[in-house]
Amino acid sequence: MINLIKNAQSHQLIIENKASSLRGKISIPGDKSISHRALMLGAIASGETTIEGLLLGEDPRSTAHCFQEMGAKVSELNTEKVIVTGIGENGLQEPLNVLDAGNSGTTMRLMLGLLASQPNKFFTVTGDDSLRSRPMSRVIQPLQQMGAIIYGRNSNKNAPLAVIGQNLKAIHYHSPIPSAQVKSCILLAGLMTEGKTTVTEPALSRDHSERMLRSFGATLEIDPDTHSVTIEGGTKLQGQTVIVPGDISSAAFWLVAGAITPNSDLMIENVGINPTRTGILEALIMMEADITILNEREAAGEPVADLRVKSSKLKACTIEGAIIPRLIDEIPILAVAACFAEGTTIVKDAEELRVKESDRLAVMATELNKMGANITELSDGLEIRGGNNLKGATMDSYTDHRIAMSLAIAGLNADGKTTINRAEAASISYPTFVDTLTIISQF
Ligand code: S3P
Repeated sequence: MINLIKNAQSHQLIIENKASSLRGKISIPGDKSISHRALMLGAIASGETTIEGLLLGEDPRSTAHCFQEMGAKVSELNTEKVIVTGIGENGLQEPLNVLDAGNSGTTMRLMLGLLASQPNKFFTVTGDDSLRSRPMSRVIQPLQQMGAIIYGRNSNKNAPLAVIGQNLKAIHYHSPIPSAQVKSCILLAGLMTEGKTTVTEPALSRDHSERMLRSFGATLEIDPDTHSVTIEGGTKLQGQTVIVPGDISSAAFWLVAGAITPNSDLMIENVGINPTRTGILEALIMMEADITILNEREAAGEPVADLRVKSSKLKACTIEGAIIPRLIDEIPILAVAACFAEGTTIVKDAEELRVKESDRLAVMATELNKMGANITELSDGLEIRGGNNLKGATMDSYTDHRIAMSLAIAGLNADGKTTINRAEAASISYPTFVDTLTIISQF
């Protein structure tokens, strides 16, 4: 039995007992990263952009709202068809109020590249408690190298931020971390700046910005060997039709749920399988999960497939190095999978998880250990000894969407009652998560 108790301020998700099986077809919501980018590029392009399959989660809503405040027109948000009427690269208007990025790091970091490069316009940007504590210096510093004027709390490290737009200068930025948000911020600033702006990253991060910028008419050179992307400034973007595939980061919950729950067989339809995002598939297949990739196809420049997963006997694995940015958001749910695998799973090189919506290394270790898991937190990862039966417990999402959903999948496979407080966080990226959980679960 699954119950969602809705209080005015927060929701409690209660899973009364272990599921006996998971079955059915699942259609997952649109990709969060692609949804943000479609709204942003649509807003700064000329003409209309049609977005099909937009994620209706809180994060893309924050992006839509910020760009509406700056003059872009966005039709009513729905999954069928959202029309963004762009205002052109230099058309962003000074907003009358503070721009609120809510919980969304992608909104704040990508948007900063665009704001910093609007000469003589003034913007203030903030977010919720979690976002105001997350590091913004990773985008502020390279933007300052381009000549940006940005002020923020804690010596320019945290929001609220104030931006006075400038004519920026092109740079070659060597990012110390593989981060699509940093890369995309600089590319968007570079789009508005005369000359060629290059970003080099130590490992390849998701490339949705590059793909979508090209399809909107920008000129990019990509060097896959050095993980470098160069954008030519000054190109005019033209509105496009964007078909948003299902989010593999959301599919990941069902991939793990299907693998660890007995007697399960799930078909997850229309999942984006961009190679910069498929680390989770590779990791689960390495763990011997029974996953089949079906009907591979392309939708508006992004590869898509259906994924079938069946109950599996998982084996531990080690995840480190270049695969980390390709599964960065899936490490919490992978930690759940590892609890059900034979042997010790090691996750390394994942210190970035400490500055996500919550400190995901600390939170996953603490909360899963409350259920009887055997997890040791490492400075840059987790050591997860599998094979302990999990018991239901009362846990907290820390208002982090991926934590709420990962703990729910653990609860589905725990003896006794699991309670997840502040479960409404799931709606950041997956507003229909509990509905799907309820439909596919048998007890
Ligand atoms: C995202 C990039 C990643 C990811 C986030 C979405 C994006 O963040 O964790 O959920 O859309 O560019 P980083 O760039 O900080 O790694």
